[in-house]
Amino acid sequence: MSGEVKSCFGAYNQQTTESRIKLVFPDLLARLRVQKPRRLLDYGCGPGFFLRDHASALNIDQVGYDVCDEMIQTATTNCKDVPKTTIVPNLEVLEPASFGAVTTTAVWMCWKSEPECLENLGWIRRLISFHGVLYAAVTHPCFRDQAYSTFSMHLDQGRYLEAGTPYEARLFDQGQKVSFTDHHWPLWAMSAQLKRAGFRIEEIQEYPDTAPGSKGSPWMLIVATPK
Ligand SMILES: C[S@@+](CC[C@H](N)C(=O)[O-])C[C@H]1O[C@@H](n2cnc3c(N)ncnc32)[C@H](O)[C@@H]1O
Repeated sequence: MSGEVKSCFGAYNQQTTESRIKLVFPDLLARLRVQKPRRLLDYGCGPGFFLRDHASALNIDQVGYDVCDEMIQTATTNCKDVPKTTIVPNLEVLEPASFGAVTTTAVWMCWKSEPECLENLGWIRRLISFHGVLYAAVTHPCFRDQAYSTFSMHLDQGRYLEAGTPYEARLFDQGQKVSFTDHHWPLWAMSAQLKRAGFRIEEIQEYPDTAPGSKGSPWMLIVATPK
């Protein structure tokens, strides 16, 4: 895990021009402004950029959680001057049903098996409040044979329906390149997992690439609520 995550960390520090940063994060902030949760959990916060550069504008209690020690350290450093922000290395310290909103961006594709997906969604379900909202942003599973402004995905779309298929993701930005293995969860699998974990899908948003002329959609957001 740590080898892959280290790659993610290096790459994600470079991803300044892609639609996750330019479109997904601002849209999440806009949605949170409308929703007005009292507490936010960013599940798989990575280096903490969403909390530091976007969600901090809400001035609410926010918690970042990541499974990787290096990410925890980096997010702690990056968010050290951000008010009302805590980075935690484990979920047991968090009170159940205490978060009005949970964001999780580019994390689902790290989960390698259905039990791993269900375990993580189960944690989110435990921690989110009854009237809370889950915002799960993933690379769009329907276009995993496309190249975008700062990354390309390499799944044979002939295998689209096969849940959990590993595929190569290549990231490139500002002279940096990295590749790693992600896992493919088609729409049917994500919706079934959410249902089994106790969520109802409310909305799906699909985002364009930042470069004109790209095909398909690099990122999608699933908005779900506890049922
Ligand atoms: C591609 S990075 C995205 C980081 C951040 N969400 C962002 O968009 O900048 C994926 C992150 O998910 C974390 N992650 C993977 N599996 C996780 C899990 N089961 N629980 C918490 N974090 C996890 C990784 O350690 C990594 O920091």
